[in-house]
Amino acid sequence: MSVLGIDIGGSGIKGNLVDVETGALLAERHRIDTPEPSTPDMVADVVAEMVRHFDASGTVGCTFPAIVRRGVALSAANVDKSWIGTDADALFEERTGLSFHMYNDADAAAVAEMKFGAGNGGSGVVIVITLGTGIGSGMFVDGVLVPNTEFGHLHFEGHAPVERWASAKVRRAEGLSWEEWADRVDRFLIHLDRVLTPDLFIMGGGVSRLWGDWGHFLTTTVETVPAELENEAGIVGAALSASLAEPR
Ligand code: BGC
Repeated sequence: MSVLGIDIGGSGIKGNLVDVETGALLAERHRIDTPEPSTPDMVADVVAEMVRHFDASGTVGCTFPAIVRRGVALSAANVDKSWIGTDADALFEERTGLSFHMYNDADAAAVAEMKFGAGNGGSGVVIVITLGTGIGSGMFVDGVLVPNTEFGHLHFEGHAPVERWASAKVRRAEGLSWEEWADRVDRFLIHLDRVLTPDLFIMGGGVSRLWGDWGHFLTTTVETVPAELENEAGIVGAALSASLAEPR
């Protein structure tokens, strides 16, 4: 079955059709700049354009970089604050006539990684960390997602939240070497291990492709691997989750 997945990010909104049985992308990815201001109404226009571009029908899965419960955004760390309290599923459905399911971006990417990537359906406690502008997280217990964990918002070693100290964006902004930055990530992982005792960490986000530059600096005793799916993980996970969701 083919389902449209849309990844709403701070700088770009990307979409593609996904074969939810195999995780394969079925078309050329389509990207549109995130409008400014990135208010719900302006983003809904782009979402409607994306639906037209792919001539989509049925159910659509969507990601958003914030806490999302039953389609309602409950935070807005790196996006327009007017999102807080917006029922995106209802808004997008009203604009397009299609059935929408929106998820936290890291949760969606983690779902794809568990099913089609490094998670391999893993049992026990698996934590996926996405390193980008912020730090996102997706946690599974025996394959079941615990949504909206938001580990990037922990206060850690005086840094509140930890994502402003250890995200991939911070590495670039502060000009840290791979070793200096990996040390921060490592300390964060060791802290997560102390409180959650995971069986596996999967490290995602764009920097997962550069694992060879920094993975060997990590000292956590928890098995830690790079994500296998690239930038499209969110699109794939959102489409997959939407295909399994109860109709609204
Ligand atoms: C947000 C999370 C999101 C992460 C990655 C954080 O700032 O609070 O919801 O998953 O960034 O985009």
